[in-house]
Amino acid sequence: MRKIHIVTFGCQMNKLDSELAAEALADAGHAIVDDEFAADTVIFNTCAVRDHAEQRVVSRLAQLIPRRLANPNLRVGIMGCFAEREGKALLEQLPHLDFAVGTRQFPNLPGIVDALDDKPGLFGPDDRDAPGIHQAHPRRRHRGMHGFVSVMRGCDNRCSYCIVPDVRGGEISRPAREIALEVKALALAGAREVTLLGQNIDAYGKRDGGSLAKLLRLIDLETKDSGLVRLRFVTSHPRDITRDLVETVAEVERVCPHFHMPAQSGSDRVLAAMRRGYSRSEYDEKLAMIREILPEAGILSDFIVGFPGETEEDYLATRDLVERARFQNSFIFKYSPRPGTPSAETMADDVPPEEKKRRNNDLLAAQHAVSEQRAAEMPGRRLRVLVEGVSPRDERRWVGRSGENHICVFPAPPAGEDWSGRLVDLEVERATPLTLYCRVINA
Ligand code: SAH
Ligand code: SF4
Ligand code: F3S
Repeated sequence: MRKIHIVTFGCQMNKLDSELAAEALADAGHAIVDDEFAADTVIFNTCAVRDHAEQRVVSRLAQLIPRRLANPNLRVGIMGCFAEREGKALLEQLPHLDFAVGTRQFPNLPGIVDALDDKPGLFGPDDRDAPGIHQAHPRRRHRGMHGFVSVMRGCDNRCSYCIVPDVRGGEISRPAREIALEVKALALAGAREVTLLGQNIDAYGKRDGGSLAKLLRLIDLETKDSGLVRLRFVTSHPRDITRDLVETVAEVERVCPHFHMPAQSGSDRVLAAMRRGYSRSEYDEKLAMIREILPEAGILSDFIVGFPGETEEDYLATRDLVERARFQNSFIFKYSPRPGTPSAETMADDVPPEEKKRRNNDLLAAQHAVSEQRAAEMPGRRLRVLVEGVSPRDERRWVGRSGENHICVFPAPPAGEDWSGRLVDLEVERATPLTLYCRVINA
């Protein structure tokens, strides 16, 4: 038996895979420990989306060398996207790295970890899918009130800058009924809110005549009286968002009016070079369609600044989009060439680092100004909030989230009452870009 600590980098898919890996390892008799220093096995679940994400893992691995040398029983491994991309090379370069498992091989971790006692060795990534990778995992993950369910793996889009299709493979949707049963099992085990995950979730089931809208309706039907109060889904690709999906979000009460719909750029030229499959005006139309049906929906976007060939004019088109679209929030990244992707192989990374940084900061400032204007409009608004518990910053206050995913803080309930997991109605009294301070209307 080993004492295993897992450190997770990257997106929610990685977080979910870490949970699934921990579950499989615990089932095999290993202990999962929260304290890295109490562990005899440390696994990094890695991200490859930008160079910076990879370098963080490399430096964390380097930090472990002294411990690894002092403790002959310590084993160190990597899983996830960077392991898939560079696992074999890293195993050769880093003598203190014991194993690397690819993105579709983590269900095999128990066998790999068992073998570590006898032969500290190399276990490279593998192209094949491990048995069970696409199947339901209905028994676990009822820690807390949030659950995650992957509805599809991989991505078929091949945006020119993106490493995800290489490291996660092609798009595979899971059967709708299996997903619905998994959501139900999580809800019966205590989850109040479930987030469905997919790199391009609004393309769910498209190839087999299904759709995300149909999936949401099926889950809604299957989970009546299960204790589930909310369903979310991420990430939406602007091209694949349909009116049917948005109407379904509006009609099915438990589905939250919240969309993460990355634009990436506001310039048609750059969007074409990115191979995003939509123009600026098509993006604007999708936004207008969502707001026509769900005026208060929370809409988030991602942007890449400094894409190869991005001129000042292209950048200004992106800033114009941020200012006009008035996103709830934007995640902004500096372009990072990923080996093997079309943009890295065929286009020069020609925007200088200091210019990328300037555009990044300028766009952050533009989004911040939008967020402040939006916050100023919030006082007086009423929101239904799923209570999470005591605020980590101030124990006299409690915190929860609205369907639009606003973080809402309110005075603690009367002593002895636990409102966690309950839906309460709040009115906003004061707002900052990230937090709404509210009073309780109805609990
Ligand atoms: N599937 C999601 C996003 C996956 S990666 C989608 O298509 O929207 C998360 C974000 O990282 C992307 O939205 C993009 O903004 C950013 N990103 C991806 N590749 C990048 C790269 N090579 N350099 C900089 N940012 C990148
Ligand atoms: Fe990457 Fe594009 Fe797929 Fe998102 S949709 S994961 S950005 S290839
Ligand atoms: Fe996620 Fe990073 Fe992999 S964003 S899919 S963990 S490359």
